[in-house]
Amino acid sequence: MEKRATFGSKLGIILVSAGSAVGLGNVWRFPTEVGANGGAAFILVYILCVILLGVPLMTAEFIVGRNTHQNPFDAYRTLAPGTAWVFQGGMGVFAAWFILSYYSVVAGWTLQYLISAVMGRVTTMSDSAAYFTEFTQSAWMPVVMTAVVLLMSHWVIVRGVQAGIEKYSKLMMPLLLLIIAVLVVGSFAMPGSSDGLRFLLKPDFSKLDGGVLLSAMGQAFFSLSVGMGCLCTYASYFTDDARLLKTAGSVALIDTMVAVMSGFIIFPAVFSVQTVAPDAGPGLVFITLPSVFQMAFENVPLVGWFFAVMFYLLLLLAALTSMMSLHEPVTALFIERFRLSRRTATSVVTLSCIALGTVCALSFGPLKDVRFLFGLTFFDFFDFLSAKIIMPLGGFLLSIFVGWYLPRNLVIKELTNNHKLRFPRWLFVSFFFLIRWVAPLAIMAIFINELLP
Ligand code: PHE
Repeated sequence: MEKRATFGSKLGIILVSAGSAVGLGNVWRFPTEVGANGGAAFILVYILCVILLGVPLMTAEFIVGRNTHQNPFDAYRTLAPGTAWVFQGGMGVFAAWFILSYYSVVAGWTLQYLISAVMGRVTTMSDSAAYFTEFTQSAWMPVVMTAVVLLMSHWVIVRGVQAGIEKYSKLMMPLLLLIIAVLVVGSFAMPGSSDGLRFLLKPDFSKLDGGVLLSAMGQAFFSLSVGMGCLCTYASYFTDDARLLKTAGSVALIDTMVAVMSGFIIFPAVFSVQTVAPDAGPGLVFITLPSVFQMAFENVPLVGWFFAVMFYLLLLLAALTSMMSLHEPVTALFIERFRLSRRTATSVVTLSCIALGTVCALSFGPLKDVRFLFGLTFFDFFDFLSAKIIMPLGGFLLSIFVGWYLPRNLVIKELTNNHKLRFPRWLFVSFFFLIRWVAPLAIMAIFINELLP
């Protein structure tokens, strides 16, 4: 059999995984959740969820991928031959496919906003809410933009593991971090930004309740990309000396830093322009921010232009690296299971996602009234099915699989790189405790809460 590709370096491994994790979830969804759930207290709970649930689950997913060096479907088949566990692998791939289809729609909006920002429209539009509605409801542009971002991801994925995913992550991720730094400084420098900082730094614990806890957990899973085939697939390209726990820790740290910094970019800016509310919901980055860029820099439009371009570029880079990680599991499955060439496999994924993405994109406009199951539009249905059902279910089964099903020796062998690394005993004890008990129980709680009206 042909030798399977691997990533070339440890830095590459961290950057590709961070590329998957850092996405619209950090820059778009996290600030929205923070705004809706009362600021700093939410952030604290979120960080706890990342440490106690996110890192162990991500490590568990790495274990499955690196041990087998196969796509998720075959990985579960190898580790649990002749059992129903293959469904877990298959479901991860399936979910990645679905998420990619609707995620590309929002990535497409981002591309549209980046183009508008470059052309100076974002900073001169008179009614940003009307612009957003008009654009998302139109029949052409959202579909075109969805297809274009999918083709961008395609362009990287056809080039393969090292010359595609790793190479471009190594270019895009440092650029992304640099842009974040520039934007944080810019946002702090705005007059009146201190109110925004206070909102982010002074916890109001009276806001904490079960709902906040559950939103924080859900956000942590989504943001860290756990419970899908994505990290498992990336881990199947890890080298034998990659340190799984350390990689998961670094990725979680980068992901959380980017999320918190996005809050530091958005809230001081939003507060400095007092007419817009910080809990403006999902429209925050597409409706609220254009007004902020405009109002804050009325006298120096060039600075407003610069910040707008940088911000949407950041969002697009973040979205693209996550799209790559959703593209690859399905592609790997087609290559390895159906013996397709990488080019054909990638094309099948890209074209099918363009088709599904078109339906999702149109569900804001021409297909608005077409309801799928549960009275949801296509976009909402895809989101619901993948983020609210398959993701928690995937995370739950992952924790059972690695915590209870896999032999303990195999797990320890992967954690220690075949007994080459030494860890204190408490680390194993905590890992197994979190993955066997805390993770499944916590996920069950989120799941039940999400499903209850
Ligand atoms: N973690 C990505 C984000 O924050 C989204 C994602 C979810 C990517 C699941 C891959 C798998 O936007």
